[in-house]
Amino acid sequence: MCGIVGAVSERDVQGILLEGLRRLEYRGYDSAGMAVIGGDHSVQRAREVGKVASLAAAMKTNPLAGHLGIAHTRWATHGEPSQINAHPHMSGDRLAIVHNGIIENYQELREELRGEGFEFTSQTDTEVVAHLIEKNYRSLGSLYDSVRAAIARLRGAYALAVVHADEPDHLVVCREGSPLVIGVGIGENFIASDQLALLPVTDRFMFLEEGDIADIRKDGIAILDREGQSVEREITRFEHGADSADKGEYRHFMLKEIYEQPRVIKATMEGRVTNTRVLEQALGTDAENLLENVRHVQIIACGTSYHAGMVARYWIEELAGVPCSVEVASEFRYRKHVIQQDTLFLCISQSGETADTLAALRQAKKAGFRAALAICNVPGSSLVRESDLVIMTQAGPEIGVASTKAFTTQLTALLIFTLALARQNGLPEEQEAEIVKAIHLVPGQVSDVLALDGEIAEMSKAFMDKHHSLFLGRGSQFPVALEGALKLKEISYIHAEAYPAGELKHGPLALVDSEMPVVTVAPNNDLVEKLKSNLEEVRARGGELFVFADKMANVKPDEGIHVMQLPSVHPITAPIVYTVPLQLLSYHVAVLKGTDVDQPRNLAKSVTVE
Ligand code: AGP
Repeated sequence: MCGIVGAVSERDVQGILLEGLRRLEYRGYDSAGMAVIGGDHSVQRAREVGKVASLAAAMKTNPLAGHLGIAHTRWATHGEPSQINAHPHMSGDRLAIVHNGIIENYQELREELRGEGFEFTSQTDTEVVAHLIEKNYRSLGSLYDSVRAAIARLRGAYALAVVHADEPDHLVVCREGSPLVIGVGIGENFIASDQLALLPVTDRFMFLEEGDIADIRKDGIAILDREGQSVEREITRFEHGADSADKGEYRHFMLKEIYEQPRVIKATMEGRVTNTRVLEQALGTDAENLLENVRHVQIIACGTSYHAGMVARYWIEELAGVPCSVEVASEFRYRKHVIQQDTLFLCISQSGETADTLAALRQAKKAGFRAALAICNVPGSSLVRESDLVIMTQAGPEIGVASTKAFTTQLTALLIFTLALARQNGLPEEQEAEIVKAIHLVPGQVSDVLALDGEIAEMSKAFMDKHHSLFLGRGSQFPVALEGALKLKEISYIHAEAYPAGELKHGPLALVDSEMPVVTVAPNNDLVEKLKSNLEEVRARGGELFVFADKMANVKPDEGIHVMQLPSVHPITAPIVYTVPLQLLSYHVAVLKGTDVDQPRNLAKSVTVE
């Protein structure tokens, strides 16, 4: 949940580290800090509460000069956001450390170290690690060995980067349960929680495996695996343009990412569908074999990715005729399961580093599922590396904390997967061709929805001073309503709840009055007439309706009903297209309310802690 970055170079590293922090800010942003080993072989440190901009401003007056440094942007887990809890943490005045993750046994280590005379200045779990390494250093005299000895005593999840003023030519890093990537330069090397942080300085990356510990110098990288064996990790090139981490002409990353959807949905289809059919082999060389005889699909994910899984359940059961269960990872991982024979385990995650999703995958691999398939957006992420079969979404880096293009590309990938599975289960060729044709139309239909941006911005004014809202949908539009409600609450802080429209009269209708806007997604489908009756129930209670519907759905604007007409879409692809106006609606409400759209309060992009 925090972001770490480090560099060892011929040049001053302050600028590299600050830019890295700016790019990692989506991971956490309640405080930031940096430690640099200066020419006089001392540790200089700067820490500020608030965003990276506050640190940058402070460092303008007091710059840190040096060729080796580490930096951190924090999302608080242990101890409030404050300067003393901000990283880097130090032990004495020679050793500095940054950490992403959680040390579960920090209390007992803290007591032990206190007993040995170490003084604690923060409430964090990280400071324990700093003192533990320093204690080892006193006897071992080598930073690398001291870090190795310390991590043998840690329980939990961590990515660490450590420097020591007595060894001013290298940093030591390790990972266990939290992401860490090494950026390979020429005569300089870097580390970060995410490759995006390092794109201004390199496009070559090495992903550490769980349990790896690495010694990073200007001219060399040495890695030991968990067993202490020296290992080489493959160098991969970053495929997306280096500018993908910039806002460009847009006011916010979220808006840029909403507008990228036609292109990235198309990119996710590319090479995977012809004009009439899905290319099963494009899902992986072993796909045919793994999908054969799948009798059940178990989907696991969190947040927006979970909503994508909920949509997929409608598709998988309808088109492939295969039973499908969907569960949030944080629940799945802590209960007993009855695993049906030949169940495919499917994880969905934008980041591929969500702690609960990874834990569920790791359990599943031991539990006897047929195979593990990942739908993921980040190449080289833990989820990708640990799954048997992977379908990469091609959304490119998603920086806004509120997930947008990740969701619609996940849906695209899930629909392609569903068709491959459905073919194995006897979906007629003509039906596959009809749906593939509909998928090809999606990028254009999303562009048509984007053209309604101005009207949606106008509509958003009605939400500005509301405190609550309801989102309704039926069938595969119910998860779309859930996703719409999640978007609105996370970036505008308006309480939003989603219901399957048929549930309204079983309770939530009691809440409806003129202060409770009711948003409804109503493409023309088998359920639209039933949905219209639900809308009447709202109207009869004085509720104000905001309906997104196509012409064929025939929902007429009237007093208390605002209708936004969307393009006509195939019922199967409708969840992808109908998500987009809800993203725009939330975006505009948030802009009107003046909230921090890209970095909403209390949230972080990549939830690498439980
Ligand atoms: C959505 O807008 C959220 N930011 C959040 O729910 C997110 O989808 C969730 O944390 C899962 O992340 P993942 O897809 O990277 O696993």
